[in-house]
Amino acid sequence: MEATPLARRGARAVAHIAFALATATTLASAALAQGEVNIYSYREPQLIDPLLKAFTDKTGIKTNVVYAAAGLNERLAAEGQNSPADLLFTVDAGRLSEAKDAGLTQPVASAALKQSIPAQFRDPADHWFGLTMRGRVIYASKDRVKQDAITYEELADPKWKGKICVRSGQHVYNTSLIATIIAHKGEAYAEDWLKGVKANLAHKPAGGDREQARDIASGKCDLALGNTYYMALMARNEKNPEQKEWAKAIRLMFPNANGRGTHVNISGMALAKNAPNRANALKLMEFLASDEAQRIYAIANNEYPVNPKVPPSDIVQSWGPIKADALPLENIAKYRRRASELVDKVNFDAGPSS
Ligand SMILES: [Fe+2]
Repeated sequence: MEATPLARRGARAVAHIAFALATATTLASAALAQGEVNIYSYREPQLIDPLLKAFTDKTGIKTNVVYAAAGLNERLAAEGQNSPADLLFTVDAGRLSEAKDAGLTQPVASAALKQSIPAQFRDPADHWFGLTMRGRVIYASKDRVKQDAITYEELADPKWKGKICVRSGQHVYNTSLIATIIAHKGEAYAEDWLKGVKANLAHKPAGGDREQARDIASGKCDLALGNTYYMALMARNEKNPEQKEWAKAIRLMFPNANGRGTHVNISGMALAKNAPNRANALKLMEFLASDEAQRIYAIANNEYPVNPKVPPSDIVQSWGPIKADALPLENIAKYRRRASELVDKVNFDAGPSS
């Protein structure tokens, strides 16, 4: 695999970034005839491999994926016009907007994409497109939380003192949520709200979303913020069966269901500014938004398809309906930096006592 041009050029360009190159071997000879498409992905390979295989089977176009947990935007920027990258895959509208603002993407005029993806989940200037949607919801203790409805605002109510767990306020999932509070209620409100939530924390923010469910299961807290798909990952985790117990201890509550709706975010894609295989990349983008690929996404990832014609998986449907906050994701991107500054200003990650 090291002999592929993508690997050689990538390694030369930014040698310090570790990456894994995965090449689809299916229909290799047909692929050569049809060409290829190169993807830089922050999304883990197992989440996108089934989709790329389906694409190659259908079109004969080979896909090459460079996966990294960080640094791909920087790599694209460093490679400039010589970049082999055609597409960027990532999570969070804020990160997609960052790529756009850094001049790393180009607009795509595609009637098929516009038809499959609601306007709320794509860039108004057509630089990025959502593929899956997830809710940032509340994990509530089945035993100890009796109410049926909840709001984000209520997390600052002193009645929850010592009862809330959350990962770092600086994580993109949280800064995006805080950005929606700024967008809806203003910055002064958002700051007070953050102080209130901080005062209600059971302990210092730590871990990922799943660790908050763990802490509810062990009785350390009653409420936590978490993304929807982790519920499916925990409930069906054969490798770490203790996570099934964490899932059993909680139920998902959809905040603001009776009002503006629950904060949702996306995973999505953008066409790289200097994409060498532009036509193939467009084919892949349109395939990923199609009913066929959206169905694969729904089942493999337990996220919500952005294509409204495709239903979520059974386990996702079992959690009940989600009403998505209609705030355009572009707005969230706009306030995310300010949200991050507020997290620092109130010293959120120091926990409840300071
Ligand atoms: Fe996640």
